[in-house]
Amino acid sequence: MSSLRLDSTPVAPELARTLDLSLRLADLFVDLGDAVSATTILRRDEPMARRTTLRVGGPADLLVEPAGEAELVSVLDLVRLHGVPLLVLGRGSNLLVRDGGIRGVVVSLQHPEFSHIGVQDGRIHAGAGAHLRQVANKARDAGLAGFEFMEGIPGSVGGALRMNAGAMGGCMFGVVESLRYISRAGEVHEIAGAAAGARYRGCPLLVDQIALGAVLRGEPAGREVIAGRMTAGSQKRWSSQPRQPSAGCTFKNPIPDLSAGRLIDELGLKGTRVGDAMVSEIHANFIVNLGAATAREVLALIALVQQRAREARGLELQPEVEIVGDDV
Ligand code: EPU
Repeated sequence: MSSLRLDSTPVAPELARTLDLSLRLADLFVDLGDAVSATTILRRDEPMARRTTLRVGGPADLLVEPAGEAELVSVLDLVRLHGVPLLVLGRGSNLLVRDGGIRGVVVSLQHPEFSHIGVQDGRIHAGAGAHLRQVANKARDAGLAGFEFMEGIPGSVGGALRMNAGAMGGCMFGVVESLRYISRAGEVHEIAGAAAGARYRGCPLLVDQIALGAVLRGEPAGREVIAGRMTAGSQKRWSSQPRQPSAGCTFKNPIPDLSAGRLIDELGLKGTRVGDAMVSEIHANFIVNLGAATAREVLALIALVQQRAREARGLELQPEVEIVGDDV
């Protein structure tokens, strides 16, 4: 007599978790479609290589570009309800996404609703999605100095707040008067810039909270003077930083006044390659993508540079780029 036996072999815990997340993502996708307007962008399996300046990285399970603050709140509510991981994406200029991509939802604040730049009473009001370069241009046109350093940073205001981005002697929190952010529970707050606890290349408050925008204060100055400083900064950048795809500086400077770039250069590592990832021959703190680099190659090169710095100088180089996602 034959009998039907249900296979009681337990599903491996990791596979069970993956299946569970896939089901929750599928439900979330349907619920988001019902909750948001047609102007909010919803995409499955969005290749992150297209959304990062380094041009590497596998797909995000779900990408959402909410069409405004109310829709962002709906998205956050649903993401929380379905218990799905969330990552907020800026311009992707400081991001290394692993080749297996990102499990969960990536929220991008690129919609014009988040990208306004206004000038009032000697202050710039900028949304999180605004480009730093456009903020610098607007400030110049309004005769406001102090924003020249932004000209060369290929990032958004939100990303720059989160990492306290800087260049040419200036940094983001050097000009922030106040900051608006939203918690993952959807509560909006506004605080003084000085209360955000920002430090060199970091703002702990914005690790879990999402920047919505900021009021930035400048000093009145002649437009020609500001334009001159921006041109000088741009010329310095073009002559000292590579043009190939990169995520900007790979490592934080290990100690004040010691440039990671100079250190890596002194270690003789310029031009070192792992596959199509290469330590730039122009600025040694940039890892450039020669065309077909993978995240695995970039990570192997990062590890190689760290090992050499440890062996030769006893220094631990900390990545400045944010590394996210899964391996393949
Ligand atoms: N240097 C070398 N070899 C190199 C690179 C630099 O000898 O390969 C020397 C330079 O000649 C210079 C010194 O090191 O004498 C400092 O170099 P640089 O002016 O480029 O400054 P940095 O400290 O290497 C920082 C920021 C950059 C920013 C520049 C310019 C960090 C980690 N990096 O670099 O920011 O553009 O100043 O202001 O703080 C970024 O954050 O992504 C980034 C690129």
